[in-house]
Amino acid sequence: RDTENAPNRAERFLRACRCLPVDCTPVWIMRQAGRYLPEYRKIREKVSFLTLCKTPDLAAEVTCQPVDILGVDAAILFSDILIPLEAMGSAVDFTDAGPQFRKPVSTEADVKGLLMPDPVQTMPFVFETIRILRGMLRGKVPLIGFAGAPFTLTCYLVEGGSSTGFYNLKRLMFREPAVAHLLLDKISEEIVLYLNAQTEAGVQAVQLFDTWAGILTPQDYKEFAFPYVRRVIDGLRGDVPVILYVNGCCGLIEMMEETGADVISVDWRIGLDAVRARLKRQTALQGNLDPAALYLPEEKIGERVADVLQKASGAQGHIFNLGHGILPDTPVEHAVAMVKAVHRFSLNRDS
Ligand code: CP3
Repeated sequence: RDTENAPNRAERFLRACRCLPVDCTPVWIMRQAGRYLPEYRKIREKVSFLTLCKTPDLAAEVTCQPVDILGVDAAILFSDILIPLEAMGSAVDFTDAGPQFRKPVSTEADVKGLLMPDPVQTMPFVFETIRILRGMLRGKVPLIGFAGAPFTLTCYLVEGGSSTGFYNLKRLMFREPAVAHLLLDKISEEIVLYLNAQTEAGVQAVQLFDTWAGILTPQDYKEFAFPYVRRVIDGLRGDVPVILYVNGCCGLIEMMEETGADVISVDWRIGLDAVRARLKRQTALQGNLDPAALYLPEEKIGERVADVLQKASGAQGHIFNLGHGILPDTPVEHAVAMVKAVHRFSLNRDS
């Protein structure tokens, strides 16, 4: 059966978020619109990354590329987690070395100086892109919105860019915890406004990227990340499922479930069977193929996919994904092979 043209394609992702039965396991890929796609690179030759994010027709076009090329079961809005920080008054440049904030935040005065803008006024292009996309996708697959979780956004804002350990933030957390908490507080409030505006514009699920929360001890996660994720989730109006992603989440699974997220998105360092055994409720799981597994020859990719599906023990309450974003030098055919293998191996012949 053709899983890409099946009428159920539109529903399998949202049903899996709610742990409802599905015709086969839904699959999408973090960073599925990006440099590994020649069609994306072609557009990027003409415009910068930020211009792409801020031009709704183009952002909508690149959002749809992987839906058609890979056959994934959800689209994710093309934007970046750092966009709202720019709206809060902290200018960011996307350079070849990654994002760079012009003035990283380090003092109480810096934190107090951050704006709390109305997202619709300051980031109109995001909501316009969402409206265009709902028209383009016409219910073929659902549209996922997203935001960075407060801790991860704080990492970038204090560090001024990417880092391996984010020690400037840890120094602030441990020397001036009140300043760190004030910053986390303000970002949380802005992210609630931002995600509610995305939902109003038409996204059908939201993912919170807490990519860097895995650098924290469980105790520090409890103080500096958990309460803010919880506050964001509690602040969401509208009934869309929330996916929570943390890279390096092994030590945090139980607390991630406590946040109230509907779906826990897991990196590749732990089996989904081991994650499932630690959960209290019937919470859906997303993941968790190692992104580097897409370097394997195609027939070996099938074996890895089968292993993830088997550990997830059935299609119900599982959304297949990578354990982190797709790597820029991934062969496109290997990503296609992964998507096809997920559908083929998980097909429920009774439905
Ligand atoms: O998933 C998607 O396809 C939707 C778009 C999306 C992007 N970034 C586009 C992007 C999403 C959901 C993100 C999230 C994001 N952005 C995260 C969390 C997920 C993760 O990967 O950990 C983080 C930490 C960022 C911040 C960020 N943006 C960094 C560190 C970089 C530079 C590194 C890199 O991969 O290039 C970016 C740039 C970025 N964001 C690109 C894309 C497609 C590459 C820009 C380009 O075209 O040159």
